[in-house]
Amino acid sequence: MAKKQKKAKPARVKAAAKKPRKVVNLSSKKKTNGGKKTSGNGKSNTLPRPSTKPYGQDGKALTGVRILDFTHVQSGPTCTQLLAWLGCDVIKVERPGIGDITRGQLRDVPNADSLYFTMLNHNKRSITIDSKHPQGKRVLDELIKTCDVLVENFAPGALDRMGLTWEHIHKLNPRMIVASVKGFGPGPYEDCKVYENVAQCAGGSASTTGFREGPPLVTGAQIGDSGTGLHLALGIVSALYQRIRTGRGQRVLAAMQDGVLNLCRVKLRDQQRIEKGPLTEYSQYGEGVPFGKSVPRAGNDSGGGQPGWILKCKGWESDPDAYIYFITQAPVWEAICDLIGEPTWKTDPDYATPKARLPKLKKIFARIEDWTMTKTKFEVMEICNNLDIPVGPILSMKEIAEEPSLRKTGTVVEVDHPTRGKYLTVGNPIKLSDSISEVKRSPLLGEHTDEILKDVLRLPAKDIAEIKGSGALSAPKKEEKAA
Ligand code: COA
Repeated sequence: MAKKQKKAKPARVKAAAKKPRKVVNLSSKKKTNGGKKTSGNGKSNTLPRPSTKPYGQDGKALTGVRILDFTHVQSGPTCTQLLAWLGCDVIKVERPGIGDITRGQLRDVPNADSLYFTMLNHNKRSITIDSKHPQGKRVLDELIKTCDVLVENFAPGALDRMGLTWEHIHKLNPRMIVASVKGFGPGPYEDCKVYENVAQCAGGSASTTGFREGPPLVTGAQIGDSGTGLHLALGIVSALYQRIRTGRGQRVLAAMQDGVLNLCRVKLRDQQRIEKGPLTEYSQYGEGVPFGKSVPRAGNDSGGGQPGWILKCKGWESDPDAYIYFITQAPVWEAICDLIGEPTWKTDPDYATPKARLPKLKKIFARIEDWTMTKTKFEVMEICNNLDIPVGPILSMKEIAEEPSLRKTGTVVEVDHPTRGKYLTVGNPIKLSDSISEVKRSPLLGEHTDEILKDVLRLPAKDIAEIKGSGALSAPKKEEKAA
């Protein structure tokens, strides 16, 4: 076995030496090379042998994939940042002189890239290109030929207006995957510009979030932007995988409305249930308030079949986060009764079964809260977890930022930046056991322009000088701007 692996190694090295980005190009070569079987069809005997390198020392999962990153603000950058963490070479194209608008938004350090930008653009390279300038278009065409995926989240039609239609891209590079975030999919709103909260509202989240008596609420989690970026990343990886088999790229669309709705699917479940009878796990049911025609806001009710609520803990009067989420999971009901000093509720027919408890949830949670208010949220956490009672402390961002275990796993990382200094960021939340994860600072505007022209596009010095001289890669001079 070991002998066989040794024999196979030089062939792989040779292939890699010919084509440095072997993952991507090998299958392309096979496809156009007399229709040989590819490694993706499950029948080939050319599947790579297991690596002989120790775990974690054989590159990253997506090493060899190059992304032309035309994203801005949050949704698209979330996607390409994740792909960069997973090993893609992400080349972010930015408008000369301005860059991604978020570089200057919500600035906390004068003249330095904002946290908004730095926290969404780690591990990327930045090139500035005026995509509407003829020489800028020339550079973009060259990049299209050398990249595997183009990711964008412009307003509908903007990419076409730059001349980067699917047909144009596909002609230049039939293997290219073109991935887009848009606010809406095809339909009445497809031309709309969309931001996070618009998506939360249009995707069903806002109408089902908040308290029954209050207005719809948006959530702090960026399910419209970052959530859709995650959906898009999965679409891209799937398209890359399919491309191994088909040899051709495809378009990937993640609409923010669809992404939010996907995350709200339990509410569409409830919409269908409400037509058949009341939603008995909603506290509204226990309170005797009739249901309307659509899913109501359910406050802090648990979305599943196990009732839950947010309860005050010791210190709540002064600490806005001294709360705990408490779930009265049926199998641990007896333990809960003993804990809160209501042992008779274990056998009392009014309390002993989940069904009997439904109309009394308010009273039950009030009684549990009498107990939680005598403990800190961390004490409740420790006591309840020992009894298998599911609870969750309401952690403030300050507590999360200071949590040692999150630092240890790389979920919260400190990064150094040349113009803003040290800052905290959320690292890659997806951990792979055979892929190194590192968080590198975001690029300065146009930091890698020269490097990309020279090393990626391999343009001769004379061409680079011509392109640069044309002004396609730099901000217009002040007089030009004014003219
Ligand atoms: N060179 C030249 N022009 C450039 C450029 C470059 N490198 N990069 C962008 N531009 C141009 C675009 O071509 C566009 O011009 P056009 O309208 O004349 O065609 C212009 O910049 C503005 O792009 P647009 O996407 O419309 O930005 P916006 O700031 O007006 O709108 C959004 C922002 C987010 C609302 C919009 O991009 C959008 O709806 N995106 C899809 C949904 C989405 O991702 N929303 C969430 C964002 S977190």
